[in-house]
Amino acid sequence: QTETFNEQHRLQFHFTPPSGWMNDPNGMVYHNGEYHLFYQHNPDSTVWGPMHWGHAVSKDMISWEHLPIALYPDSLGTIFSGSAVVDMNNTSGLGTKENPAMVAIYTYHDAEGERAGRDDFQTQGIAFSLDNGRSWTKYKNNPVLKNPGTRDFRDPKVMWYEEGQKWIMTLAVKDHISFYSSPNLLNWKLESDFGANVGAHGGVWECPDLFKLKTQDTDEEKWVLIVNINPGAPNGGSGTQYFLGSFDGNNFVIDPQFEASLNAKPVIATTVNGQEGIWLDYGRDEYAGVSWSGVPEEDGRRLFMGWMSNWDYANVVPTEKWRSAMAIARKLELVNTPAGMRVASMPVKELQNIYGTTKKLEAQTISNVLDISDKLSINTSTYDLQLRLEPVGTQNSFAVELSNAKNQKVLVGLDASRGQYYIDRTKSGDHSFSDKFSGIQYAPRLSNDKAFDLRLVVDVASVELFADSGKTVMTAIFFPDEEFTKVKLVTENGQLKLVSGQMTDLKSIYSS
Ligand code: FRU
Repeated sequence: QTETFNEQHRLQFHFTPPSGWMNDPNGMVYHNGEYHLFYQHNPDSTVWGPMHWGHAVSKDMISWEHLPIALYPDSLGTIFSGSAVVDMNNTSGLGTKENPAMVAIYTYHDAEGERAGRDDFQTQGIAFSLDNGRSWTKYKNNPVLKNPGTRDFRDPKVMWYEEGQKWIMTLAVKDHISFYSSPNLLNWKLESDFGANVGAHGGVWECPDLFKLKTQDTDEEKWVLIVNINPGAPNGGSGTQYFLGSFDGNNFVIDPQFEASLNAKPVIATTVNGQEGIWLDYGRDEYAGVSWSGVPEEDGRRLFMGWMSNWDYANVVPTEKWRSAMAIARKLELVNTPAGMRVASMPVKELQNIYGTTKKLEAQTISNVLDISDKLSINTSTYDLQLRLEPVGTQNSFAVELSNAKNQKVLVGLDASRGQYYIDRTKSGDHSFSDKFSGIQYAPRLSNDKAFDLRLVVDVASVELFADSGKTVMTAIFFPDEEFTKVKLVTENGQLKLVSGQMTDLKSIYSS
């Protein structure tokens, strides 16, 4: 198999399947020095279809080695989303203490059952590997969790709950989360339900996650409950919302302050386009994101990755050989903001592994336009751009403009009249494939700092904005006829102070 990975719109440092369809990241687990990434995969087509778990491994979450498909559909159904853990204490008996099993917990989707009009066509099954995920055996008594009669019953995220010495499964059940527990990954008991009356409910709840996070400064701890939802995201279609609270092994209890901000309206920090919810990423193209399990305690990071598309148009975006990519791996952190405690995300530091040259911009006051690519003599569509900007006088709108010679462009900036960040892809090139693609997406600003810290991670056909140290994040994809190798900073009728800025060329993960 010789892959070139240089087709039009093929991202150069984000994960993409060699060919065929991909959606959610699955089974993310770190084990024996490798980050595993499994993914929803239809190998036979570039549109969604019978789901398999594709597989890849990485030493740094940036460069990936593609491995053979890990899980194939079987008589119980196709293989929907789920998670993986390493059963260190061999609670399941599927491995040994010396060679603990890697266990995948996933949803069986029985399409025939669905067609026959049954409601119980989604169940949870498990499979295990004793050779670092290279080969897999399905458990003989699947499913391990039967369906109580709910159509949407899926995407198990399993973690070891140390305090109670048991496994906890966080499961998406239509409009709420159900928590199950198990001593051995094989027998599961319902603990509690959460969420039917809180948060965003414009669509089905999917792909949840539950973990503890500490604040950096005060060492305060909160439990984070991630709930992906489709549709119902603030800018339309799919999105990742979350809740902060506590978890005692039985119940998730939402933090009162967090709940108050969810209910406060209209509060800029929670409302975009009139939509409820607090979101990990406000852009159109981060979905089904969850975190890695098994990351060593010494590392201390909570590492997250999402799918870089949106169900509004994922099946029709203009790529031919493969469809869609994963967003860049991110580190999640609890931070204090003027709106309350929030989860911030930043690209993992391993992005450095593909750093090329860095060029710095001089501090200056900009009137109208600063042509960054021209000034720095940089001609690339894969880079990491960091800018610190301050208003001169009253706050004016400003944007980073990514463009090509065909005058196609994407704008990433601040809309001063709304006090919100935005990404405008109305002139970004091809959007004929879906009338839901074009448009402007907005996100709240969660900082009162005078200076705006913007970091843009750009890769051929995608931009990820990390603003104010990751307090506001937006991810968007686009399909220009020619790559966007021009970068400008534009201000609307006024001046802008560039306090500092630098642009780093990012190398293709396929170049060596
Ligand atoms: C989310 C999702 C999951 C499901 C999978 C099917 O994008 O709908 O809920 O398990 O995709 O491919």
